[in-house]
Amino acid sequence: MLFIRRYLNDIRRNSRFDETDNYIQHGDTTCLLHTVAVAYYSIRFSRLLGIKVNRKELIRGALLHDYFLYDWHDGKRERRVHGFTHPKTALKNAMEDFELTEREQDIIKKHMFPLTPLPPKFRESIIVCVIDKYCSLYETIKRRNAYERLRRSLYM
Ligand SMILES: [Fe+2]
Ligand SMILES: [Fe+2]
Repeated sequence: MLFIRRYLNDIRRNSRFDETDNYIQHGDTTCLLHTVAVAYYSIRFSRLLGIKVNRKELIRGALLHDYFLYDWHDGKRERRVHGFTHPKTALKNAMEDFELTEREQDIIKKHMFPLTPLPPKFRESIIVCVIDKYCSLYETIKRRNAYERLRRSLYM
């Protein structure tokens, strides 16, 4: 968690990032906790397998990959295509609030592959694309109190 903290604090300043804590992703996991978990496990995974990554870009891209800023369970008509459209919305919002590198943009834009047609181009975007799916599955199955330790260090 420590290795994420400085990038997280940086992103929370002067942006709408804290809004993501008002929106549920899966179960009782908010979008904020979800993106912190995806960043955390993406780094853990790359370390475990000895994959060389740009840590800063991987963490920032992962933190912003679901920066779509709405509740996708609100029942609105356009939410039917949320799975296909939210990477683009997240990228647009993120570009309004941050200066993003090509790698960070790719992480956000391609994280729903293969639901969206273009495959991830960098190692960092492939990792986030895979870890996001595992995290989403875990949150959905666990339903309540997923990522107990991350939760404690985030909300303490
Ligand atoms: Fe997403
Ligand atoms: Fe996600």
